[in-house]
Amino acid sequence: PTRKFFVGGNWKLNGDKKSLGELIHTLNSGKINADTDVVCGAPTIYLDFVRSKLDSKMGVAAQNCYKVAKGAFTGEVSPAMIKDCGVSWVILGHSERRHVFGESDELIGQKVAHALQEGLGVIACIGEKLDEREAGITEKVVFEQTKAIADNVKDWSKVVLAYEPVWAIGTGKTASPQQAQEVHEKLRQWLKTHVSEEVGGAVRIIYGGSVTAATCKELASKPDVDGFLVGGASLKPEFIDIINAFQ
Ligand code: G3H
Repeated sequence: PTRKFFVGGNWKLNGDKKSLGELIHTLNSGKINADTDVVCGAPTIYLDFVRSKLDSKMGVAAQNCYKVAKGAFTGEVSPAMIKDCGVSWVILGHSERRHVFGESDELIGQKVAHALQEGLGVIACIGEKLDEREAGITEKVVFEQTKAIADNVKDWSKVVLAYEPVWAIGTGKTASPQQAQEVHEKLRQWLKTHVSEEVGGAVRIIYGGSVTAATCKELASKPDVDGFLVGGASLKPEFIDIINAFQ
């Protein structure tokens, strides 16, 4: 890819201060390609802890946030609180938010709008389920999800689009480099047509779904794969190899 490579880790609901502290030590002392943006998605309760320990050359992301700044919304956190912890990114629309917690395109769009207004960078996730791929409606699904996000974005410089086919998440079944490239290329074309030529050319589109040290290099060789959103492997030292997949 010609855009700056971007690798996000999504630690999901994993780790404790001890294990995350060890992982952070490994990341801080590892050799990390300076030409790659690295962002680690930490559990909310550890955002402050992770930000205070992780080398400042790497970013930190929350894995979710709410659509307003404050109020009577028990259990939620706002972008303002995330920023107050020194954290500058948020992952929104992850498939687990959509399919385990029932978040709609509409809610995700509202969250994207508010997070961007508050100045956070957004890793916005989309992706089709297995039955949708098998029914031949992958494009329709990801275009609809992308539209719900795009309708809420003014400044695309703060947005990274993560294509994560649901059938590839946590399954060990990585999309082939050709499958990923095909969807990424179509998404870029969609952005060029529906947003602008310039935005379509500049937005990083990253791939997520069972990315490992073994699969990352070939995926990274594809012209429209601008990086990764890594789940399971981001909790292991091999995350460094994935960060360095594109040299
Ligand atoms: O956000 C990350 C994705 O859900 C991928 O997770 O690498 O464990 O398949 P995974």
